[in-house]
Amino acid sequence: MNKKLKKSISILLTVALIFSLFTSNRLMTTALAEEIPIYKNPNAPVEMRVADLLSRMTLDEKIGQMIQGEVGSGEGNVKPEDTITYAIGSVFSGGGADPATGNDMQSWYNMVTAVVDASLKSRLGIPILYGVDAVHGNNNVIGATIFPHNIGLGAIGTADLNDAIRIVKRVGEATAKEMRITNIPWNFSPCLANPQDPRWGRTYEGFGEDLNLVSKLGVAYVQGLQGETINDLKNPYKVVATVKHYVGEGYTFNGTNQGNVSSMTKEQIAAQILQPYIEAIAAGARTVMPSYSSIQGVKMHASKYLLTDILKVRLGFTGFIITDYNAISQITVDEAGNTISDLKNQIRVAINAGNDMLMQPTNWKSCITKLRTLVLDEMAVPGTGVTMQRINDAVSRILRVKFELGLFEKPITPNPAYNSNIAAEFGSSENRALAMEAVSKSMVLLKNDAINGVPILSQLKNMKNIFVAGKSADNIGNQCGGWTIQWQGSSGPITQGTTILQGIQNTITSEQKVTYSIDGTGAQGKDVAIVVIGEKPYAEGNGDNLNGLGFDATDLATLANVKAAGIPTIVVLISGRPMIVRDHIADWAGLIQAWLPGTEGKGVANVLFGEKDFVGKLPLKWSYYAEAYPLTSNNSQYVMFDKGYGLKKNQVTPILPVIANASNLKQLLNEYSKSGALKSPLLKQLTNSLSQAEHQLSLSRPDKAAKHMEDFIKHLNKKQMERCIQSGAKTILNNEANALINLWLKKKK
Ligand code: BGC
Repeated sequence: MNKKLKKSISILLTVALIFSLFTSNRLMTTALAEEIPIYKNPNAPVEMRVADLLSRMTLDEKIGQMIQGEVGSGEGNVKPEDTITYAIGSVFSGGGADPATGNDMQSWYNMVTAVVDASLKSRLGIPILYGVDAVHGNNNVIGATIFPHNIGLGAIGTADLNDAIRIVKRVGEATAKEMRITNIPWNFSPCLANPQDPRWGRTYEGFGEDLNLVSKLGVAYVQGLQGETINDLKNPYKVVATVKHYVGEGYTFNGTNQGNVSSMTKEQIAAQILQPYIEAIAAGARTVMPSYSSIQGVKMHASKYLLTDILKVRLGFTGFIITDYNAISQITVDEAGNTISDLKNQIRVAINAGNDMLMQPTNWKSCITKLRTLVLDEMAVPGTGVTMQRINDAVSRILRVKFELGLFEKPITPNPAYNSNIAAEFGSSENRALAMEAVSKSMVLLKNDAINGVPILSQLKNMKNIFVAGKSADNIGNQCGGWTIQWQGSSGPITQGTTILQGIQNTITSEQKVTYSIDGTGAQGKDVAIVVIGEKPYAEGNGDNLNGLGFDATDLATLANVKAAGIPTIVVLISGRPMIVRDHIADWAGLIQAWLPGTEGKGVANVLFGEKDFVGKLPLKWSYYAEAYPLTSNNSQYVMFDKGYGLKKNQVTPILPVIANASNLKQLLNEYSKSGALKSPLLKQLTNSLSQAEHQLSLSRPDKAAKHMEDFIKHLNKKQMERCIQSGAKTILNNEANALINLWLKKKK
C-alpha cells in the first residue's frame, strides 16, 4: 500500500469514527428524551408511579378509570374497543355472563384477554382490571373446582378455628389460581356478612353469625387470594380480593335482602360490628364493596360517614371502593336527609360519599358524561358537583391497586392453550381433594338416635342394604347452590363433579348395596334410608324466606314415601341455612346438615360410609320457627340447636329442648303485647282461653285443656282480628297452640 493510499484510508476511518460517535451520541440523546415514563418503570415506588401517571391523564381518562361496565354483546355492554375509546378502568362479568363462544376455561381466557389486550392500546396503555364473583371457586366456569359455600367453611371454623383458617386460606389460593388461569385478576369475594336471620337469601355467603369467626376466616380468605403481603400480590397467580358487603347487611329487619338495618344507628354499627372489616383491611384487602342495604333508611352507598370517615380515614383503607351492581340507582336520600332522584345526583352523592369506582353494567356511558358534568359544575359553582381532589383521590386509589397487582408488567397470564401444565391445574385433582376435605369437615350431625341401642350413624358403615332418595342425592346443581355457572345456580348436571349418590357408590364395600329412588318409593325392607333433600339453588333476594324455610312439595312427598316404609331414616340437608324441621324431626333417626358442598359429593360419602367422623359445628343458631329469627337472649326458647352444636358418630342425640308448654306460651303473649305485635281485644281472648286450658290441666283433664286451645286457635284466626296481630307472631302462636294440643292429647292416650 503506498503512502498516499494509507493516508486517505486513515482520513476515511477518522471521518467514520467521528460520524459514528456523533450518531451514537444522537441516539443516546434520543433515548434520554424518550426515556421510559416513571409509571412504566417496575422498579419505581408505587406512589411515584401513581403520581406520574395521574399527571399525564386528561379529565376524561381519569373519569374513565372510575367506571366499570359489564362485558357482553348486548346493547350497552362493554366491547373490547370501548376500553380504548372511553379509557374505562374496569369491566366485569356478572353471574352467568358466559363467553359467546361457550362456557369453558379457554373461552373465558380468550374473552378476558381480548378486553385486556384492547385496553393496552389506549393512549396511556393502562391495563383494564377484570372482575368476577368467584365466591366458591372460579364458579362461573364449567369444570372449575366448586368449594363449599362460606357457611359450610364457617361450620369447620366453629369446630376448629385454626384448621378452618388453614383450609380457607388454601381455598383462596386455589380459587385465585383457577381464576388467573382464565386471566381474571379480581375477585368480588369474600363476603364478610355475619347473618343474624337465616331468612335472608344470602345467609350462605357468610361464614356464620359470629363476628370473630367471620373476621378470622375473612382474613384467611383475603390472604389466600392476595397473599400475605402486598408484594405477594404481584405473583401472577394471585388476585385482588373484595371484602363485601360493607357493613351490617346481616342485620336487616326480617332478614330482607337489600333491606334496612333499624336496630342500630350508623355510629353503633361503627362501634359494634366493624371487626371483620378492621381485620381484613389490616390484612391488606385492596377493594371494598358497600352493601345494598340501608341503615336507618340511608343507603350504605350514600354514607360518607361509613365509607370515608370510618373506612378510609379511621381504618386507613388505601385501596378503592367499588359500588355494587347498579346500587347507586337505589340512592333516594343522602345522609343529610335530602331527597335524591336522578342518576346525576345519585352519582354525586355516591362519589362524594367515598365510592371510587361505579359498577354500572350497561349505563356506564351516561355515568361518564354525568360525572364529567359534575366536575365542571363544581368548577363553576363550588359545592354543586364533584371536586378534582375527589377525582384524583379515587383515580390514585384505583391505579395504586393496578400497580400493586403488577398489572402493568404482566397484564396477561400464559395462554392455557399453549401451556398444558397450566391448563391441567384448572379443576385439578389437588384442588378437588382440598374441596373434598372441606366438605367432609363442614358436615354437622344434628340427630343421631340409637337404633337397637347403637347410634345410627356409627352403624351406617356396616349396613348392607342401603336406600338412597331425594331430589338432591344425584344432583350437582343442587349441591352447588347459587353462584354456580349461573347467577342463581340451577339444578342438574351443570358442571363436572361427583354427586352424593356417586360418592356413596364409590365408597361402600362390595358387601353393601345401594338402591336409589329419587321420590323415596320402594324403601320397604331396606336397612336404612338416606334422604338427601333441602333447598334448590337461589341467589340474593330470590332466596329471601323461601318457603318459610320449610320443605317444598317434592321433599314432603319423598319424606312421606320413605316414612311409609317404616325403616330408619337419615336426612341429609343440602341447604344454605337451617331449615324448619320441627314437624318432621321425630320421624328421623338421623339428621345431617351438609350445607351447599359444591362439586365434591364424595366428601359427604366419606363421612357417612368411610372412616371419617363428623367434625363441623353449627356456625349459627337453628330455630324452631322461621318467624322467631333473629334469635337473641329474649327469645332463646326457640333455639332448637344452638351455635356450636354438632354430634359425633357415637354420640346419641341429647334430649332436645321442648318449647311447647303453657307457661312459655303465656310469656310469649306478654312479650308480643309489650312489643305491639299483639293487641286487644285479641290479646284478651287468647289469654282467657289459655288460662282456662291451664285450669283444666291442673285438674288433669288434658282433653278439655285441648278444647280451650282449639278456641285459642279460632280466636287467632278470626278475620276481624287480623289487624290485632302481626303475621310472624300469628304463625308462632298457631304452631305453639297446635303443638300443645298434640302433646296433651298424646298424654291422654
Ligand atoms: C351482588 C354482588 C356482586 C355483584 C356483581 C350484585 O348483585 O350483590 O355481590 O359482586 O352483583 O356480580
